[in-house]
Amino acid sequence: MPVQNVQTSPIEGQKPGTSGLRKRTAEFRLPHFLENYVQSTFDGIGGVDGKTLVIGGDGRFFNDSAIQIILRMASANGAAKCIVGQGGILSTPAASHLIRLRKADGGLILSASHNPGGPDADFGLKYNGPNGGPASESVTDKIYACTKSIEQYLIAAGDDVDLGQRGTQSLDGMSVEIVDPVADYAALMQTIVDFDKIRALFAGGFTMCFDAMHAVTGPYAHTILEDMLGAPKGTVMNGTPSPDFGKGHPDPNPIWAKTLMDRMYGTDAPDFGAASDGDGDRNMIVGRSAYVTPSDSLALLTAHAHLAPAYSGGLAGVARSMPTSRAVDRVAESLGISCFETPTGWKFFGNLLDAGKVTLCGEESAGTGSDHVREKDGLWAVLLWLNVLAEKKMSVSDLMTDLWATHGRCYYSRLDYEEVDSAKAKDMIEGLRGKLSSLAGTNVGALAIETADEFAYLDPVDGSQSAGQGIRISFEGGARAVFRLSGTGTQGATIRLYLEQFETDPNRLHEDPQTVLKDVREAALALSDLTATTGRDAPDVVT
Ligand code: G6P
Ligand code: ZN
Repeated sequence: MPVQNVQTSPIEGQKPGTSGLRKRTAEFRLPHFLENYVQSTFDGIGGVDGKTLVIGGDGRFFNDSAIQIILRMASANGAAKCIVGQGGILSTPAASHLIRLRKADGGLILSASHNPGGPDADFGLKYNGPNGGPASESVTDKIYACTKSIEQYLIAAGDDVDLGQRGTQSLDGMSVEIVDPVADYAALMQTIVDFDKIRALFAGGFTMCFDAMHAVTGPYAHTILEDMLGAPKGTVMNGTPSPDFGKGHPDPNPIWAKTLMDRMYGTDAPDFGAASDGDGDRNMIVGRSAYVTPSDSLALLTAHAHLAPAYSGGLAGVARSMPTSRAVDRVAESLGISCFETPTGWKFFGNLLDAGKVTLCGEESAGTGSDHVREKDGLWAVLLWLNVLAEKKMSVSDLMTDLWATHGRCYYSRLDYEEVDSAKAKDMIEGLRGKLSSLAGTNVGALAIETADEFAYLDPVDGSQSAGQGIRISFEGGARAVFRLSGTGTQGATIRLYLEQFETDPNRLHEDPQTVLKDVREAALALSDLTATTGRDAPDVVT
């Protein structure tokens, strides 16, 4: 088949964000848009000649046609082999695992994560390196530079690969291996958690509801929870991936996983509820009438991970993103292990994991993971929780009460202001930045400011620096407010305001978080002038 050398020119807006390039699907489908970005990715990583790549996505609309284009371009650019999940399906953690397992040179993951899918929704593409993790900023900077100077791309002409057919095919000299997307991942999970213990838990009548949100974890959850661990059929809901996620918003939080929440807070709730997002890297954990914040989940797993076989020797250390609550810091301290604070974005954990400095890591944005892959891993978190529940024989709610009684409770909430005019959002951040140095020692509303700064990160492994990673204001009495602009939005700017209040009084460990956080919320809004600057008087989402 002839290779076409297609003349093109740079297209605006191809700067990769927190997790690769995320755009409206319609934009991705514009002439040359995908091709330009794929060629720039190949060029930015130094070419793919002779390389092996893992390719797969979350099954959203355009997943399969985009894979056909990527395969033809990989072939034309001289790649030796592509390993592709059957049907074009690979959850993000499964793709990360496959890259590592098969010692591939990297991978392309097609997903816009928890954003809705469909012709009028979102699409995304991300490059992961040979360690299985998202590319570092130095690599994404190179990719971005290529998008700004691109003049041509290479693509093989010819027939589509049959993505439904397992086994090896050839595409103009490049080998394409279609693999079962679930098998290797399920085998990995068996080496981490105690399947026998969890099987016994289910056999003893323990009940669970897992919401796959019509997204990629459906096949993984059916196989692992129902077929391998013996949870009754029906434990997994919305378990068939659909291109538009059943017209839903596959984001596992109390707002978007409302059906599951209602069930968990209703009569006859199962013992345990969980959900995962579009591409399977996020998780939500909820017990009977007991929602667990992602920050608390990280703290709890850190406290009890040693109960699972893979972590029985203890943890090397833990890491959390800066806006994640400081609950895990206290657990780490009591265990005598280090706790690292990184900027938002899973890629920042990669170096710490590769260097063996941390074993577990997590983010407030519903991400938890460990050194088994280089992505956050939704189903893994659920399985580790199940392992803990099987060992402790306590309810989720009792486990949390126990954690708070021992380490104190970090009340936590995040307020999102979406699709804000980008200039206004920037103005607000600029305004805060301008007064940071004069805030310490002053009062705002009922609270006294202890420290105020803008988070900058110095990577302890490679010495790279990342500035401008969020504004943090700490108050006397254990409150903290953090402001940052989201790096994953596709429309305008999203302002995130993260609120936290630490509490150790044993009589105040079961309060309503929004009530506890009222003072710090009011202080943050007053300091930032958010309403006046952006015209927004209420957040769009409160988690
Ligand atoms: C993705 C990344 C996470 C990040 C989250 C929120 O899921 O993988 O690492 O925490 O997006 O990012 P944002 O920039 O939108 O707050
Ligand atoms: Zn995701």
